[in-house]
Amino acid sequence: MLRLQAAHDVEVWEERLPPTPDELARHAADAEGLLTLLTDRVDAALIEACPRLRTISNYAVGYDNIDLAAASRRGITVGNTPDVLTDATADLTFALLLAAARKLPEATRAVHEGDWLTWEPARYLGAAVHGATLGIIGTGRIGRAVATRAEGFGMRVIGAGSRDPVDELLAQSDFVSLHVPLTEATRHLINAEALGRMRPTAILINTARGGIVDQAALKTALERGTIAGAALDVTDPEPLTPDDPLLRAPNLIVTPHIGSATTAARERMAELAVENLLAGLAGRPLPHQAN
Ligand code: DGY
Repeated sequence: MLRLQAAHDVEVWEERLPPTPDELARHAADAEGLLTLLTDRVDAALIEACPRLRTISNYAVGYDNIDLAAASRRGITVGNTPDVLTDATADLTFALLLAAARKLPEATRAVHEGDWLTWEPARYLGAAVHGATLGIIGTGRIGRAVATRAEGFGMRVIGAGSRDPVDELLAQSDFVSLHVPLTEATRHLINAEALGRMRPTAILINTARGGIVDQAALKTALERGTIAGAALDVTDPEPLTPDDPLLRAPNLIVTPHIGSATTAARERMAELAVENLLAGLAGRPLPHQAN
């Protein structure tokens, strides 16, 4: 922030909740650069409403909140923050995998609710992780970092890229973890048909983007036991309100999009976002440019 303020006039949105599209358009109207969060929708209308805009720096590795084609048409550079959050996100993926496999929410709830009455041989029985097959959809940086962790846990790992067929992977996996970006091609990649190909004992983990999963189909699959569980750090929409029907599904863990939420990762994301923005405003190529 100090580096930005030293070189430029900076206006900061200080509220806890993001600006509405109108507020964003009003405050960004004269901006030459924007530092955005994934909660800021930068669509063609916003870009048109900002005639002086030259560069957008997204504080995230994903940039599905930005209309990249509209930015490119105007010659606006778009930056993102890869690498620095890879390990944090892979760690959270594994935390969710283990928590879902070993029924941690159910077990800790029992302790808090006074239901830990004795040691019970057949309660809280979860899925074995060691020796299980993990199917990774999306074999970029985060997918590969999850694979490294899985190998340490003695899992068999199979992978598929975002354009590869996934039917076989879904059929073979005990755990399926999603690491593709959200695009028109990956929206609802995990739909009723895909869920139907998974094993009834399988667990789905999503730390990528909520839109990759058809949530209505997931709710049905969990209710019918087509799959054994799901752990989601991302949903569609975000936030998911407490009355969302999905939250009534059994064997479901939902965390509030905290994949990159370590102090170290968030600090490095901020540094990278500032470097991208300074480069863009100076007319230099961005250290990490998405378009
Ligand atoms: C990203 O960077 O895209 C994550 O979803 C948030 O850190």
